[in-house]
Amino acid sequence: MLQTTFHANLRHISRVENMVDVTLAIPRKYCLHKRINMNRDLISYYRQRANEYEKVYSKPERQSELLFIEQNLQDIFRNKSVIEIACGTGYWTEKISKSAASIVASDINESVIEIAKSKHYSPASVNFQIADLFQFNETNKYESLFGGFIWSHINLPDLNRFIKCTNRLVESGGMVVFIDNNYVEGSSQPITETDDIGNTFQMRTLEDGTTHRVLKNFPKEEQIQQALGTVASEINFVGMQYYWILKYKAL
Ligand SMILES: C[S@@+](CC[C@H](N)C(=O)[O-])C[C@H]1O[C@@H](n2cnc3c(N)ncnc32)[C@H](O)[C@@H]1O
Repeated sequence: MLQTTFHANLRHISRVENMVDVTLAIPRKYCLHKRINMNRDLISYYRQRANEYEKVYSKPERQSELLFIEQNLQDIFRNKSVIEIACGTGYWTEKISKSAASIVASDINESVIEIAKSKHYSPASVNFQIADLFQFNETNKYESLFGGFIWSHINLPDLNRFIKCTNRLVESGGMVVFIDNNYVEGSSQPITETDDIGNTFQMRTLEDGTTHRVLKNFPKEEQIQQALGTVASEINFVGMQYYWILKYKAL
């Protein structure tokens, strides 16, 4: 069903506040010309994980850093229009909605969007969209972009295109922010495999007992700086114990 939706280039957007569904036709373009090897296992893994996903935010030792990130995001996105990619169940959407002017939150998986839609957002207006970040045909330009815990899931050869595709969604000079994990021995799930180009993988088990080989990279600040090359300015990286925050202006 999702495939049909993509091929028809239709995107379903629901306005949360009044629950009126609007269907928008968006022209093909941007990032479509090259087939991206997005890990299909990763997408189905997150589809299946939807109902248990937010347990990841309850680890006691991580609460102070999560609060720090929340406060930072609220400062960065204050009064801004935000496009959020890979929004999942809306955990960060809800935090950002407390200060942003508006948010369009998108994800490839309908199962997570359904959970996100059930939450309350205020005072920002929040709309949801089912979209593959590599095939985002959005013609609007936003003041800022947010992506939580998606950088780490990008196949290394796709990283440049990922940055290009996300930069295209914001105005020139628009603020782009990513947050993601550091690998912490004893707290992170062990890395079970490294492929010949340096991608790392974890074997993860869901509550239904199914196991999934998940692409999860843990880039260092230098690798991130290198990936941003000449398409970013005012790069700011905040490294903590469990997480990092990356902020830059899109060129
Ligand atoms: C680790 S979760 C992060 C969810 C949310 N951003 C958060 O921080 O709580 C990764 C999300 O990326 C989504 N995703 C994976 N591949 C995607 C793609 N190609 N386009 C859009 N979303 C994608 C998954 O469905 C999942 O919800």
